[in-house]
Amino acid sequence: MANEATERISPSIDIFPSSPIAPVSPYIFSGFLEHLGRCIYGGILPSTRTTFPHTPRKPCPEENFTETPPELLTPEGFRADVLEILRDELRVPLIRWPGGNFVSSYNWKDGIGPREQRKRRPELAWNGEESNQFGTDEFMAWCRAAKIEPYIVLNMGTGTLEDALHWIEYCNGTGDTYYANLRRKHTGRDEAYGVKYWGLGNEVWGEWQVGQQSTAAYATKARQWAHAIRLVDPSVILVGCGETGLNYWDGIVLDELVDKVDVHSIHLYTGFGPRDRSQTEREYGRSVYGPDAAEYSIEVCKGLINKARFGKGVSKPIKIAFDEYGVWDETVGTPENGLEQFYNLADALAMASWLNVFVRQADVVDIACVAQSVNVISPLVTSATGLFRQTIYWPLYLFSKHMRGGISVNVSVTSPRFSGETLPRWISTIKGFPSDLDVSAVLHSDPDTKSRGLRIAVVNRSETASYDVPIRMAFERVGALAEVHELWHADVKARNDWEKEKEVSVKTRTEQWGGRWTFREHSFTILVLQLE
Ligand code: AHR
Repeated sequence: MANEATERISPSIDIFPSSPIAPVSPYIFSGFLEHLGRCIYGGILPSTRTTFPHTPRKPCPEENFTETPPELLTPEGFRADVLEILRDELRVPLIRWPGGNFVSSYNWKDGIGPREQRKRRPELAWNGEESNQFGTDEFMAWCRAAKIEPYIVLNMGTGTLEDALHWIEYCNGTGDTYYANLRRKHTGRDEAYGVKYWGLGNEVWGEWQVGQQSTAAYATKARQWAHAIRLVDPSVILVGCGETGLNYWDGIVLDELVDKVDVHSIHLYTGFGPRDRSQTEREYGRSVYGPDAAEYSIEVCKGLINKARFGKGVSKPIKIAFDEYGVWDETVGTPENGLEQFYNLADALAMASWLNVFVRQADVVDIACVAQSVNVISPLVTSATGLFRQTIYWPLYLFSKHMRGGISVNVSVTSPRFSGETLPRWISTIKGFPSDLDVSAVLHSDPDTKSRGLRIAVVNRSETASYDVPIRMAFERVGALAEVHELWHADVKARNDWEKEKEVSVKTRTEQWGGRWTFREHSFTILVLQLE
């Protein structure tokens, strides 16, 4: 539903390759693994009979607990298919683990040593049981096999500072100390894991969190923890626990921690269901335009970071880790079904807009972890013997392939705007009616060949209108050909499934470049252009 005042606007895109924002951090393509549903047990380790207590869930073809055959596993015993996609297709650089809400009652010491001796424990965050068959050493072995950097979140719920210091000593200790030696005993190697990224708790502000704390209590505690952690390992990168970036919590915590942490973490999900309404289906607009809220969160958070730096005279820049983001309808992906949600094309457009936000905000967003990497509100859904890629996989794939490694540049967009209901509702009142055309651009230069290229990511979020758009490039001549990658389907509700794995997927072609492009209704396109 275009705003009446803007629907007659002629859309246009102006790109300013000589006006850089910042290099795009490779860590915006990061992921997240939580001990929840079939993420670890079924997604990283093979399916087993005992690890998924939740029902009902849409069954995979060979449900009834077929065991994953050994030929589908890596030598370490991990699922090879998931690992290969994360490593080779999505090229995920960093993974956050073990939660999420799970971490706030996780005892890391239960997850080390001989597996047959590990204790099964009640799992408090998702009301299940934790077998502890996947612990620190398994996570590190998986990261090594996947060539992915680990990011571990500390338990600031039931966990003590002493537990946290022991965990860091276990992972990073190089001396002749108890936990460093225990790691050597378990791994058979002298070499430490050298985990750089450590999170100071997860969503400690939330009432659902084991060990919820007040803002002041968390800030005081996190300061003490940060100080002590750096005594054990001064080289760590510490991530403070923020809220959504624009809350009271963020401001106070930043004011207190800005001289103690390196990164401020924020979380947001879009695409929530119609909880307060009579409809049973999510409305298109409430899902697709949602990531505009994330952009506003980042903009406000950047201000709060700089205010806090100013207050404490901190010259070092503090970046944002959007270390949980994604599309999640809590009425569909529930604790009872292990947060498994099937995604349609509209959700994929939202995912593309999320990624556009991270590219446009490249000066402050250092890390973004899609929640989550397999099975749980995820682009990948496994069965015991296979998997399929959901619609939301494709924007992640295209961004990782084409928008990585360059410099985000300024873009000016004129577009009809959406005046229907957004979620959150405040997007239109505070940030303004969202633009149908959502755009980011990245400049790539190859010093060896002296060639330069521009990649433009465009989501046409209008459900019904296609737009023929002039794309002007300030002070640049563009080569004759455009490589075009397009995600589109006539039906915005189309989705992939076991029987229709490629119902929604990317079409790639090369076309003559004439300085304009027609973006189909509800489509996502990446244009790859050469600059002369
Ligand atoms: O990703 C699912 C949950 O969402 C995480 O456990 C929690 O941190 C967030 O609320």
